[in-house]
Amino acid sequence: MTEATHHDASLAVEIAGIRFNNPVLGASGTFGYGLEFAELIDLNRLGGFATKGLSARPLPGNQPPRIVETHGGMLNAIGLQNIGARAFVEQKLPLLRGYDTRIIANVFGYSDDEYLEAIAMLNDGEGIDAYELNISCPNVKEGGIVIGNSPVAAARLTEKARRASTRPLIVKLSPNVTDVTLLARAIASAGADCLSLINTIVGMSIDVNTRRPRLSYGTGGLSGPAVRPIAVRMVYEVANAVDVPLIGIGGIGSAMDALEFILAGATAIQIGTANYYDPTVTMKVIDGLSAHCQNNNIDSFPSLIGSLKTS
Ligand SMILES: Cc1cc2nc3c(=O)[nH]c(=O)nc-3n(C[C@H](O)[C@H](O)[C@H](O)COP(=O)(O)O)c2cc1C
Repeated sequence: MTEATHHDASLAVEIAGIRFNNPVLGASGTFGYGLEFAELIDLNRLGGFATKGLSARPLPGNQPPRIVETHGGMLNAIGLQNIGARAFVEQKLPLLRGYDTRIIANVFGYSDDEYLEAIAMLNDGEGIDAYELNISCPNVKEGGIVIGNSPVAAARLTEKARRASTRPLIVKLSPNVTDVTLLARAIASAGADCLSLINTIVGMSIDVNTRRPRLSYGTGGLSGPAVRPIAVRMVYEVANAVDVPLIGIGGIGSAMDALEFILAGATAIQIGTANYYDPTVTMKVIDGLSAHCQNNNIDSFPSLIGSLKTS
């Protein structure tokens, strides 16, 4: 196979003017800074990936234990450990630029200003294709409210980030809400170019012998196959509520899992937890999507987006 046939053209998708070679992306927090996977998979075949959440200043994260396995998934309370936006631009980006894959910088802060500070640092970084705002973390200045749970706070941050950003803005929705469409509508109206969903679902696991939570933080974020039906339902609801493109995330481990999100209305998907039990899963999902299109005479992958039949 020559370099020119490296990518299956029929799998290409476009989001906010960015062309992805295929719709399969690595999810934030499970894919490091991308480079960690360079020896495990061919990064040039990957549609793209979202970096670990980057903040204006480096953070050490929570005390261990920070991860526990649960039935069909895992709980994590890493605590947004990261090297900081500036170190990402200086140390990781120059190496990442050598690969033909889309780079999404995942951004967070503990106040609106901290988000904007991180974005300003990343604006200097050549080679970043888009930003993904993680709005599922507590806002210290507002008494610890989670921005992602408040349509007003989320819309305000989106508007500010949109103005501060030189790149397309993806906002990542929290599933820990009663009606995800309220948030989606507010954020899309505030100028988000794309919505990604879902982030992890808050959960808890208890060791009955020690009578303590299994995570030192107490609660953690649930991810993996167990959350997939919830994520598919939320993508379906949001696809019917807004006009911006969506990236589906949650428990994807195969091409068939990915297709559920695509039919529900996602343009692309991200794979998180599955990378832990199979670091090559992204490549297998790309191959599986190609095979599905070939076997079903689907000439253009985008024709599948939102093609769910409901009657
Ligand atoms: C260990 C771990 C760390 C994560 N860190 C981040 C993060 O820094 N920023 C973010 O937006 N999402 C983070 N996530 C959420 C994932 O990107 C993804 O939304 C979620 O895990 C659901 O997808 P999955 O079931 O395929 O893992 C993290 C998830 C895990 C398991």
